[in-house]
Amino acid sequence: MLQCRTLSLSLSYDDKMQKLTLIRPDDWHLHLRDGEALQAVLPHTVRQFARAIVMPNLKPPVRDLADAAAYRDRILAAIPAGKQFKPLMTLYLTDQTSPEDVLAAQASGFVQAVKYYPAGATTNAEFGVTDIRNCDPVFEVMQRLEMPLLLHGEVTDKAVDIFDREKVFIEQQLMPLRQRFPQLKVVMEHITTADAVEFVLVHDHIAATITPQHLLYNRNSLFNRGIRPHFYCLPILKRERHRQALLQAATSGNPKFFLGTDSAPHSRDRKENACGCAGCFSALHAIELYAEVFENANALDKLEAFASFYGPDFYQLPRNTEQITLIKTSWRIPDEVPFVDSQLVPLGAGSELMWQMA
Ligand code: NCD
Ligand code: ZN
Repeated sequence: MLQCRTLSLSLSYDDKMQKLTLIRPDDWHLHLRDGEALQAVLPHTVRQFARAIVMPNLKPPVRDLADAAAYRDRILAAIPAGKQFKPLMTLYLTDQTSPEDVLAAQASGFVQAVKYYPAGATTNAEFGVTDIRNCDPVFEVMQRLEMPLLLHGEVTDKAVDIFDREKVFIEQQLMPLRQRFPQLKVVMEHITTADAVEFVLVHDHIAATITPQHLLYNRNSLFNRGIRPHFYCLPILKRERHRQALLQAATSGNPKFFLGTDSAPHSRDRKENACGCAGCFSALHAIELYAEVFENANALDKLEAFASFYGPDFYQLPRNTEQITLIKTSWRIPDEVPFVDSQLVPLGAGSELMWQMA
């Protein structure tokens, strides 16, 4: 075995670069859904990841500690027998969320963060915040507790072009928020633009998650000899210049950027629809998708820290100690996997990947 010498990581390759061993990663942005859908998707995540930040956008949303405790119990009950997995819970911020809600959640030890959705921005965001200033008393407490605020960073104004909504959010909402709460810990979730990368780079206490789809594809993938609903997610894929900025950020070794799949399962019929749902399903093969990205960028030595170190460091949680192994072998992403009474189409279905988890 050849130890990777550029960084003192546990990442190791075998001599012919056919095997890659890394500390088991965590997913810092995941949709697990509930009920039968939860049962169907959770085993995929458990196979790859030790922990995940679980999004609270259920119907109705996870609004307080009691909701989070009950949802956590349902997740724990759905973990396949003999497997280990730790769900890290979040609260869904609404106009009614109180500082006491946040204090109680934080005291529980299992709620790690609060998720901000602008009302109507995405799937199940209709309970979201109507004006971010309504939440200043909550942010005050979060800043003091060093509890991260997770942002869906898009404005919802239909007059703003869909491809500009992240940039406009940064200008209109994030910059003023930052001025009001300069010490507040913030994760810009699933960033999609060079503007977001730039904002994260220059501000302290701000980090970002990056999805596989935003690293692998640009907006042309949505319209490739026809409309391609399985590439539709929010925030929407952007132009190539932005993908390049995300790639550079993810593979740079900067601890402000870490893995968050935003795997967001919707059944095939709800995607392949005249009004298709937003969300890409990647829990099946997430680490392999990221490995593909890092290999193509000649940055495999940066994969482990992005996937397994920088997330827990930002959340002030211990890093995992167990390892996973990826094997260099060409394999084809399946066309679909079973999902309740339908199917899920995995991100990049039908294409080839070069690394496979053992
Ligand atoms: C997510 C979902 O389906 O819950 N969809 C998506 O396109 N990412 C919601 C979200 O994170 O925006
Ligand atoms: Zn999401």
